[in-house]
Amino acid sequence: MKVAVIGTGYVGLVTGVVLAELGNDVICVDNDQSKLDSIQRGESPIYEPGLEELMRKGIHEGFLTVSNSIADAASKSEVIFIAVGTPPGDDGTPDLTAVRAVAKSIGQAITHQTVVVNKSTVPVGSGELVEQIILEQGVPAHLFDVVSNPEFLREGSAIHDTLHPDRIVIGAKKKEAAMRLVELYATLEAPMVITDLNSAELIKYASNSFLAMKISFINAISRICELADANVADVSKGMGMDKRIGSQFLSAGLGWGGSCFPKDVLGMLSTAKRYGYDFDLMQNVIDINDDQTLNFVRRIEKRLGGLAGKRIGIMGLAFKPNTDDIRDAKSLIIVEEIVKAGGIVSAYDPIAAENFKRVFPNIEYKDGVYDVSEDADALVLVTEWNEFRQLDLNRLGSKMKTRVLFDGRRVYKRETAERAGFDYYTIGSR
Ligand code: UGA
Repeated sequence: MKVAVIGTGYVGLVTGVVLAELGNDVICVDNDQSKLDSIQRGESPIYEPGLEELMRKGIHEGFLTVSNSIADAASKSEVIFIAVGTPPGDDGTPDLTAVRAVAKSIGQAITHQTVVVNKSTVPVGSGELVEQIILEQGVPAHLFDVVSNPEFLREGSAIHDTLHPDRIVIGAKKKEAAMRLVELYATLEAPMVITDLNSAELIKYASNSFLAMKISFINAISRICELADANVADVSKGMGMDKRIGSQFLSAGLGWGGSCFPKDVLGMLSTAKRYGYDFDLMQNVIDINDDQTLNFVRRIEKRLGGLAGKRIGIMGLAFKPNTDDIRDAKSLIIVEEIVKAGGIVSAYDPIAAENFKRVFPNIEYKDGVYDVSEDADALVLVTEWNEFRQLDLNRLGSKMKTRVLFDGRRVYKRETAERAGFDYYTIGSR
């Protein structure tokens, strides 16, 4: 099938690359020429395991091309994906400026039967909005259909998630339009949910909000565990074995971050408000998440008798492993709190340090994890990178002022850390 994907951010590029891998003719469109140049050179503008290789393959085999012109791409395509950013506005409502602009350009370009697909995470009613904008450009209603097809990929496993989705959600007014997407995704052999536009849009927000709620729930339980001298790992394991609950997204830690959950939980709240429903539960989910990180900092402060003048080594800056993304990363809050209180931060991340430097240019950055321990009063494990899992704790502690480890992701066993002479603190247990 001939496909255009507008927007070469996370969702757009992965979608384009995977659709090319499935044998479609894909044009990836962006107004940022530097991103297109980078794709053309075979260099992925974002870090994502496996993406660059597949992207190069698509380009090499001729299935993947790039363009800076929506008009050009739209004139050659049967299906056009809108995959541009929808950042939260001041009141949490997603900002649809980019979606509107793209819809307008598509409307100005459509000359043959086209399916326009909203892939970006957009609030309920956005499919209707895109349809309206295209109609306003004078395109007859019979010439196009708008479909909602939200994505569920996770950063760090985006290619795998796109090739092996739990489900594909397709929302459309007309069955024929939905069938075009069924055809496009047929080779993935994934279960499909075919529904109306509004329901499809809501499925995305409800799913991310539910997952964030699940994490906040176990994090709240982790606080009770700390107070009650119980162990959240065992509580989570015991809960997760109930098939109705499930074990995924039940790991207590520093809280959820990234480019999706924070934005989508706020989007869920504002959508509910727009329809006159007070979804207070979502506000609690946010509050628990914020407090989870700050409480951890308070524990570090208490253990060290204040943070002023204390040297703290931060292990991991990315919002989660296998990505260089630091958007809404817990490291941002932890570093900010330490710096604000007069502490000295020395940080290491395998790939996210460059991004972090733009926000905190004045903290110390080290080339390896063992270097952050030098003269440190405490180490704080913020991101559970695999390379932090099997460290030589004796070596790590040998250069420290005091062997104190705050493990924000429950990577280490208490006995292992204590055997190496560490004072060990973690989430959800003594
Ligand atoms: C999330 C969803 O998982 C995807 O399904 C969705 O497509 C995507 O948002 C999106 O809307 O684009 P992502 O933000 O890449 O994906 O990352 P996750 O793996 O879901 O992790 C989100 C946050 O939750 C991270 O900060 C992670 O550390 C935290 N988390 C996750 C926990 O604290 N505990 C857990 O058990 C799981």
